[in-house]
Amino acid sequence: MTDTSFVPQLDARQRAMLAEMGVRVWAPKPPPAVTAEPPAVAPPVAAAPATPPPSAPAAAPIAAPAASRAPATPAARPVPAPAAAPSAAATAAAPLGLRPVGIDTMDWPALQAAVAGCEACSLCRSRKNTVFGVGDTQADWMVIGEAPGENEDLQGEPFVGAAGQLLDNMLRAVGRSRSGSGEQGAYIANVLKCRPPANRNPQPQEVAQCEPYLARQVALVQPKVIIAMGRFAVQSLLQTSEPIGRLRGQVHRYQGVPVIVTYHPAYLLRTPGDKGKAWADLCLAMETVAAE
Ligand code: URA
Repeated sequence: MTDTSFVPQLDARQRAMLAEMGVRVWAPKPPPAVTAEPPAVAPPVAAAPATPPPSAPAAAPIAAPAASRAPATPAARPVPAPAAAPSAAATAAAPLGLRPVGIDTMDWPALQAAVAGCEACSLCRSRKNTVFGVGDTQADWMVIGEAPGENEDLQGEPFVGAAGQLLDNMLRAVGRSRSGSGEQGAYIANVLKCRPPANRNPQPQEVAQCEPYLARQVALVQPKVIIAMGRFAVQSLLQTSEPIGRLRGQVHRYQGVPVIVTYHPAYLLRTPGDKGKAWADLCLAMETVAAE
């Protein structure tokens, strides 16, 4: 029988329904009591602490029935930067947790809270912030990069460093921006939501743990086209080890959404001679949206 007794937000009927459906509910277990005596004044139901304990996510429970049954209504745009995660020092010795269940039915607030509290891989120990995504959640363009770098980790927003400035210029060239909406907008996210230390390459198990979050973002945005930027984004979306040069110029698919493969802006900063190819890729993306 499913044990939901540690989830204070559920009433008896919800507990019974979840148990009946065999649905597992993820929520942080309360920390063990340190004193035998209860506090003199105890709140009726513990509110989420302003600063979560090291092993707790920012919001709980993630997969309460209301959230899992709610229609996938995107939140108002753009989605703000997530709350800061527990400090690296506080989490250095903590064991890794499980990824929340029910990601594929979460709405925007639940998904963002799940990412902010995620401890499914060791990147949670060194991150300063999770980097969820930015832009219009109903845009018809979605840009997917690799992973946050130092600036993104500090600010909790994707593509805010030098590569991000180039990305903004590329988007402007096609009449879009991260602050625009609809046909002038773009939603920007990464495969990994946490910065790999010293910007090392993402590891396969990190990509595997993070992929469901991105999959849900794509399902909620329902873009008309995805621009996959750089080797890691491309290879993890398309499940291939083919190099970018071999994948460009074709329309691929992820969750049924057309995917255009192009170079990462950081690569283009190092190799400006390939900017013309990236422009051709953006033109293919525009043609693809027009044809959808
Ligand atoms: N590179 C990426 O792929 N994503 C970012 O957010 C920043 C740099």
